[in-house]
Amino acid sequence: MAKKETYPATPPRERAFLVGVEISGEEGLLPLNDSLDELALLAETAGLEVVGEITQKLKRPNAKTFIGAGKVNELKALAEDTLTQVVIFDDELSPRHQRELEKQLGENLRLLDRTSLILDIFAQHAKTREGMLQVELAQYEYYLPRLTRAWTHLARQGGGGGGRAGGVGGVGLRGPGETQLEVDRRVIGKRISRIKEDLEKVRAHRSRHRDKRKKSQMPIVALVGYTNAGKSTLLNQLAESDVYVADQLFATLDPTTRRVDLPGGYKSLFTDTVGFIQKLPTTLIAAFRATLEEIADADLLLHVVDISHPNALNHFEAVEETLGEINADHIPIITALNKIDLLEDPEKANTTLENYPRAIAVSAKDKIGIKELRELLKKGLYETYTAITVRLPYQEGNLLSIFHESGKIERIEHERGSTLIQGRLPGRLVAKFDGWEVLPEDELRDEEI
Ligand code: GTP
Repeated sequence: MAKKETYPATPPRERAFLVGVEISGEEGLLPLNDSLDELALLAETAGLEVVGEITQKLKRPNAKTFIGAGKVNELKALAEDTLTQVVIFDDELSPRHQRELEKQLGENLRLLDRTSLILDIFAQHAKTREGMLQVELAQYEYYLPRLTRAWTHLARQGGGGGGRAGGVGGVGLRGPGETQLEVDRRVIGKRISRIKEDLEKVRAHRSRHRDKRKKSQMPIVALVGYTNAGKSTLLNQLAESDVYVADQLFATLDPTTRRVDLPGGYKSLFTDTVGFIQKLPTTLIAAFRATLEEIADADLLLHVVDISHPNALNHFEAVEETLGEINADHIPIITALNKIDLLEDPEKANTTLENYPRAIAVSAKDKIGIKELRELLKKGLYETYTAITVRLPYQEGNLLSIFHESGKIERIEHERGSTLIQGRLPGRLVAKFDGWEVLPEDELRDEEI
């Protein structure tokens, strides 16, 4: 009788060793140790087991190996002692650093950096076609300049299969299929153009949906926040729905939209999208620009902050920075300081409230402050009015009816071919009247004529 094979319940995780560097004068948003803790969390989310870490303070990165020559030897020895299989740098390595380090660390150690790790997590979590295409594009663009050695190296190490998004070979956790082992630069270049074309098509489809949503006249609130802050949990509470929640980084990647009822019978649409993180790879921001721009289309932002996290304020700043990069920093914002149930001293939430704009303390898990948050959201969307005067040509009948339905008209004059309206509009609608606004000095000139 053939011997029955037995398999362990879960395959052993790959052992990872972390490397953090502090360059003087270039201190990041988080202190080195906190940034490494975050890297460890990212590694665990990607399915790795962290077995150790080393750090180095430098005036500038070593031109060849990023860390100093002595540190490379130390790293090699430590990696051997701890049976490390993967070395992860907290900073993005240039193609040259990558090549040189691989040469010195030897064939048995796989080399990753923060960017490739995040790309791999994104590849594991993307579910929609657009999400997968975006990650695939970011991966190809990241790996293309690093091809010569890294490619064959990663390809050989890569585990089998993986979804489409994991198909680039990624970091080898969801490695490429056999055929991808043979790809060369030319093929990848072609593939990149193909993905871009496919993305255009998917986006055209989505933008039609978006137009429909805009026409629905329901105001849109976009949830933003550092990864793991509790955005999906809060959306579930607000929408009384069932969005996927997980205690891992970047569980939500593709935009989810839910209807949320606000007090007084008001309705709104909420979208939850990718979480932010410090040092978010630029390749990813570029690839996800279209998704992130959904945020820039919102009437109001709800920024969720995990107030129980020691680096809450730094996380807040990292999110603000990314909002600036995607031109969404002009949108009115409400801040929900979440997870107050975890605070040893709940008073802390009240004292920190003043550090954040229009903030409220909540616990999405224990449903604390949710009613008050709904009220604040309603006020933010419906009760903040801006004084405005517009001259609308007759063919802009749609805007005229929006002013009638949602604004407060103080003066209306029917002129030849147009209507002059002075009144107040909910802040969220003001942008729709761009180009039709009559500024006080224009009015004066009109009167003089
Ligand atoms: P990303 O997908 O990474 O962007 O995360 P997210 O911001 O959508 O966070 P998510 O809602 O997935 O929550 C992350 C973890 O925090 C989960 O384990 C939640 O159960 C937990 N969590 C969310 N809100 C609270 C809260 O108010 N209190 C506590 N104790 N845990 C919470």
